[in-house]
Amino acid sequence: MGGHVEYFFSLNKHLQVLGFDQDENARKIAGERLENFIEKKQFTIIPENFKKLEEICTNKNFTPTSILFDIGVSSLQFDDGERGFSFRFEAPLDMRMNQNDTLTAKEIINTWSQEKLQHIFYTYGEEKHAYLITKKIIQRREKQLFETTTELAEFIVSIKPFSKKTIHPAALVFQALRITVNKELEVLETAVHQAVALLQKGGRLAIITFHSLEDRIVKNVLDTYISKEKINKYQQNSTTDASTANPKLCLKKISKKPIIPSQHEQSENPRSRSAKMRVVEKIL
Ligand SMILES: C[S@@+](CC[C@H](N)C(=O)[O-])C[C@H]1O[C@@H](n2cnc3c(N)ncnc32)[C@H](O)[C@@H]1O
Repeated sequence: MGGHVEYFFSLNKHLQVLGFDQDENARKIAGERLENFIEKKQFTIIPENFKKLEEICTNKNFTPTSILFDIGVSSLQFDDGERGFSFRFEAPLDMRMNQNDTLTAKEIINTWSQEKLQHIFYTYGEEKHAYLITKKIIQRREKQLFETTTELAEFIVSIKPFSKKTIHPAALVFQALRITVNKELEVLETAVHQAVALLQKGGRLAIITFHSLEDRIVKNVLDTYISKEKINKYQQNSTTDASTANPKLCLKKISKKPIIPSQHEQSENPRSRSAKMRVVEKIL
């Protein structure tokens, strides 16, 4: 939505910025907020996925001095009752960040195999009851398909063993579905490799994540550029497309630990509570 970019321009009004977002609504708000800088050709909105970062910057002959990823779902997406991200609002099971993508949460829940569903609930939701929930979903969808967010959320409430935890019983399944629909973790790994490759020497990369699965990926990928031992281990273990990346020692950490929001920021903006930002500098 251009919030960070507006702040960057307030620090330096001569910047040239490319702003990527795959969500049409977020781009519209950024466009209105930064109209001035668009007219002056200093801000360009790129309606693309982060995985196109390297291709687009290379085509534009643009070598960034800084890259910021603020990843995950926005409040705008969560709080828009029609997008299907939240179990708080009745909506079709959608969850696409990019409204032109074809895969929806509804397709996943109603057509994917028991094995695949259990895998995503367990891996992307870290849902301990993945087996039970999946088995019941399969039984129920044989009689009646799932259509809406609230239908799925109420179904999970009815089958999941009672937990003293404060989070909603359906929260982890919803998280898993959202990550799967948007291929969030695969894209994150690829995009971080691309950002490291693109950055100018002396340039900085900052990545804000909102849960441990994302932060672990960011930490692991960045480490492959920071420690020789980790490079070897990564190259042996990686099974994703990003394994074609050829990490070499070229980054240093700017802060030892991830930066987290102050108490003041957390009380002003409770959704910032889980945010972590890692910052590195390209040294070679
Ligand atoms: C946490 S919000 C960021 C808010 C923004 N930084 C601001 O200042 O208002 C994340 C945004 O990134 C977008 N996004 C997430 N993953 C993406 C991806 N792989 N490619 C493009 N945009 C993505 C989402 O659509 C969402 O609008």
